[in-house]
Amino acid sequence: MPKIQKQKNGSMTLLAGGSNPELAINIARKLDIPLGNVLLGRFPEGEIQVQIRDNIRGKDVFIVQSTCTPPNENIMELLILIDAARRASAKRITAVLPFFGYARQDRKDRPRVPITAKLVANLIVSAGANRVLTMDLHAGQIQGFFDIPVDHLYSINVLGDYLEKKKLKNLVIVSPDVGGIKMARGYAKLFRCDLAIVDKRRESASETHVMHIIGSVKNKNVVIIDDLISTGGSLVEAAKALKRHGARDIYATIVHPVLAGPAIERIQNSVIKELIVTDSIPLSPEKRIKKITQLSIASLLAEAIYRIHYNESISTLFSQSAVEA
Ligand code: R5P
Repeated sequence: MPKIQKQKNGSMTLLAGGSNPELAINIARKLDIPLGNVLLGRFPEGEIQVQIRDNIRGKDVFIVQSTCTPPNENIMELLILIDAARRASAKRITAVLPFFGYARQDRKDRPRVPITAKLVANLIVSAGANRVLTMDLHAGQIQGFFDIPVDHLYSINVLGDYLEKKKLKNLVIVSPDVGGIKMARGYAKLFRCDLAIVDKRRESASETHVMHIIGSVKNKNVVIIDDLISTGGSLVEAAKALKRHGARDIYATIVHPVLAGPAIERIQNSVIKELIVTDSIPLSPEKRIKKITQLSIASLLAEAIYRIHYNESISTLFSQSAVEA
């Protein structure tokens, strides 16, 4: 990755919502610019209070906010920040969404259900965002929900580099469901190894059931790849089934650590040797268990922000295997 040069013209401003301050600070550090001064508060009745305390007139403004837990608060805070930046005469506003929540509600899979991912995209555009920068969307097609330019990054280089150093022999990459095949195939291509697929049925929002395993995992070291882990049901059930089918060590590489409800307990008691995640979502102290390794995507996001600001290509930032898988 080319070295980020020091800002000369100061026309870029980086602001952050309250969802992931550590990541925002690290991005600012990599860009060698200060994080913008923003008041993020609450009025007594709970309404969100925001004030951008720096002059951003005519600036290229990037607002970092993961729409993770609590998703509704974080989305609303993002919308209000965008509105404040627009009314403060920012030249261009980019919503930087390391994790885009509600992404799993991207289609009508049952009668009379909403497409909430599209609703959230509409809200972000209506609030005044001119661009979106995001990473490892649940489904690539969600880019089309925004009628503004979307730069979609992949964390495969960051996660893949870490896995590479483990020098795992006799490796098979596993997708824990049919929907994740494309992403898993990217890793299988990168490591030039086989791919196996777990045929999973979802019983409820937190329970899943493994029906079959497609492909061979017997006597192989396994890396399960997924875009997000919520309650951990999909991952832990997949790992159990893989063990039953003769897998050796089981690792999991999952981009967005949502880690809701029983997730930590499930991982702790599971056969999984190590779960590798990114800092697209921060880990609260009780989630920082030994089995979880968190890798930073701050450099990747900083480099993308720098390139957007200077109208440089973004595609050179990620391995083609992620895109063409
Ligand atoms: C499903 O399509 C996703 O990629 C994840 O596999 C799933 O949403 C994870 O949810 P949970 O951890 O609650 O099983």
